[in-house]
Amino acid sequence: MEISKWVVREHVPGVPDVDRMYRKVVEDVDVVLGDDEMLLRTRYVSVDPYLHGIALDTPLGDHMGADSIMEVLQAGPRAAFAVGDLVQGFGGWRSHVVSDGRSRPWQTGAFPMVFPAYRRLDPRHYDDVLPLSTALGIMGGPGMTAWGTLTKFMTISSGQTVVVSGASGSVGSLVGQLARRAGARVVGTTSSPRKARLLEELGFDTVLAYKHGDDADRVADAVRKATPNGVDRYFDSLGGALTDAVFTRLNVDSQVAVCWQWASQVGRDTTGPRLLPYIMFPRTTIRGVFSLEWFTEPNWTALHTELGGMVRRGEIVHHQTVHHGFDRIPTAYRDLYTDSAAHVGKVLVKL
Ligand SMILES: NC(=O)c1ccc[n+]([C@@H]2O[C@H](COP(=O)([O-])OP(=O)(O)OC[C@H]3O[C@@H](n4cnc5c(N)ncnc54)[C@H](OP(=O)(O)O)[C@@H]3O)[C@@H](O)[C@H]2O)c1
Repeated sequence: MEISKWVVREHVPGVPDVDRMYRKVVEDVDVVLGDDEMLLRTRYVSVDPYLHGIALDTPLGDHMGADSIMEVLQAGPRAAFAVGDLVQGFGGWRSHVVSDGRSRPWQTGAFPMVFPAYRRLDPRHYDDVLPLSTALGIMGGPGMTAWGTLTKFMTISSGQTVVVSGASGSVGSLVGQLARRAGARVVGTTSSPRKARLLEELGFDTVLAYKHGDDADRVADAVRKATPNGVDRYFDSLGGALTDAVFTRLNVDSQVAVCWQWASQVGRDTTGPRLLPYIMFPRTTIRGVFSLEWFTEPNWTALHTELGGMVRRGEIVHHQTVHHGFDRIPTAYRDLYTDSAAHVGKVLVKL
């Protein structure tokens, strides 16, 4: 059978130049399954900014990894899932996958990581309100990141000021809405006027225009004006001058969740003021967020019940942008970095 995949052909730092980075390969493969293996067809592929690091760590010639939703087409007698099952896992930019679905180690440049075992998606959890594709969005990793941070680390109470960097994204927009529901005053950032209006519709109290590379003094001034009572909670996906500015505003007993750092990973900006002095007097707690730690069956069930319940009751809004076709994957990924207006919410590709 014919299997298509996008392989990494060059490691290119900075904003992804996908024409240089990826090459499409079509192979004619005789599929012979081991007893515990499955042949899966990819239905949806997720594109996320964190793939930046995955791409740089992928050996040249190997397929590009990514979260995906797959359907089991064939299964060996001892396979984890049955023919017809829908599963979510790190299947990558491939039309078809042969796998046993077990977790597998991934050595990143800095830190050993594990891609979790595939998980079966219960069709009863998905419908018109929360379609199957949300298993890569609000009912998947991005939802778990937001919900996990706010249920397992960050405590938010009424009247606090919460700042969310990258607030228009699939994670930030949820964090902001959940913080608003907890009674906080929420400040979010976006570089797009259209998304600024969207954030206001979602209930963000103040929206700051921010793009990596903006003048640091102007950013500091805008943050100061937007946070007259200081900052109690900071959910950070961007880093850079924005984070430098927010740290100078931290209040006593503040909490900071570090979800990602666009500035150092993509923007290659590793300079800035030393931030640790700003956490001493306010006794700030900073915690790295790595949502894989929350990928457990009880947490998935709770995510569906709690966050899914809020969506079904109309209390939380989420958006997704679905591109179509295997050949669109690299450009859909590149647009995350280069064309903010091209998408809103979770971005995925339907195959
Ligand atoms: N730690 C974890 O466990 C974990 C889990 C999931 C995701 N993540 C990471 O967390 C981040 C947020 O995820 P997501 O799914 O919400 O991503 P997303 O939907 O792609 O949103 C990205 C956000 O970053 C902003 N952004 C992009 N380029 C920017 C630039 N040059 N300057 C300023 N802002 C910029 C976008 O702002 P605009 O409004 O201007 O477009 C948008 O708000 C991602 O980097 C993702 O990889 C981490």
